[in-house]
Amino acid sequence: MTETWLLTGGSGQVGQALRRSQPLGVRIIAPGRDVLDLAAPINLDQLLAGVSGVINCGAYTAVDKAESEPELAAAINAHAPGLLAAAAARAGIPIVNVSTDYVFAADGAGPWHEDAAVAPASVYGRTKADGEAAVRASGARHAIVRTSWVVSADGANFVKTMLRLGQERDELRVVADQRGSPTHAGDLAAALAVIMARFTAGPELASGTWHCTNAGETTWHGLASHVFASAASHGIRVPATVAAITTAEYPTPARRPADSRLDTSAIWRDFGIQLRPWQDAVADIVAALAQRESTQ
Ligand SMILES: NC(=O)c1ccc[n+]([C@@H]2O[C@H](COP(=O)([O-])OP(=O)(O)OC[C@H]3O[C@@H](n4cnc5c(N)ncnc54)[C@H](OP(=O)(O)O)[C@@H]3O)[C@@H](O)[C@H]2O)c1
Repeated sequence: MTETWLLTGGSGQVGQALRRSQPLGVRIIAPGRDVLDLAAPINLDQLLAGVSGVINCGAYTAVDKAESEPELAAAINAHAPGLLAAAAARAGIPIVNVSTDYVFAADGAGPWHEDAAVAPASVYGRTKADGEAAVRASGARHAIVRTSWVVSADGANFVKTMLRLGQERDELRVVADQRGSPTHAGDLAAALAVIMARFTAGPELASGTWHCTNAGETTWHGLASHVFASAASHGIRVPATVAAITTAEYPTPARRPADSRLDTSAIWRDFGIQLRPWQDAVADIVAALAQRESTQ
């Protein structure tokens, strides 16, 4: 029997990967913002008719811009998940809500466990934490899945920015004192599908929060260096120098955690999910982009 999942953010990095993944026995419907505007959601009960589960990948993800648009970020990241979850509760179906490592403190030390206290340092992080709280309070069966440093061959992300800048400049300066774990959107999407399938299979699985990232850790500088090593192996132009700098040398409107590594042992324990090392995932993205370039 085919079941239907409603996906928000279907045009984003993770949403696109989920749509492509075609989980067995599942039809994914992904209304765009013309039908479901997360800034002002309407008709949610009608949208959920005949739906077995909701995956919320839609979000206001412009971390720096959120500092000057806090109301819009709150509407999309905090209120919309609460409204979606309340509608899911009325429909008696589960919701998987994607969240972020940026809910954790700017100056704390990871790897963060799921039940560590949140202390967001940015508007983006605060609105995402409020969204988590709204989902937990909704009464819907839920999974909150926090991830970090999402990268893919689609959409805007650090890997693609580095490759673009690498074409344009001989020297890049990249922050080397923020630690975290890159996450391949496709790997995360596969994990979200496993989690949703477990929730829709029966009532046994209890609601909770899980962390999901590719294995291993690095800094933005370490990630950039790996991107360029992979790129060079495909004959892509890379900058001569990738200088390591401090966060203080690269001021941004939003404050980011210095150490946002997430402890991922719970998702392994509860779902048997362990994503591959981030280096392999990033090398795949660079290879996909190189292939795309060569066939254009
Ligand atoms: N990117 C990261 O590094 C990162 C890190 C940690 C956690 N996360 C979380 O992971 C999830 C997926 O992120 P992502 O990287 O896939 O995001 P993304 O590529 O920026 O995509 C965001 C998605 O949200 C949609 N959206 C934004 N505003 C909307 C609105 N008002 N109404 C309807 N849809 C709207 C966008 O639609 P349009 O195409 O129409 O704009 C797009 O489909 C999010 O919950 C994010 O907070 C991301």
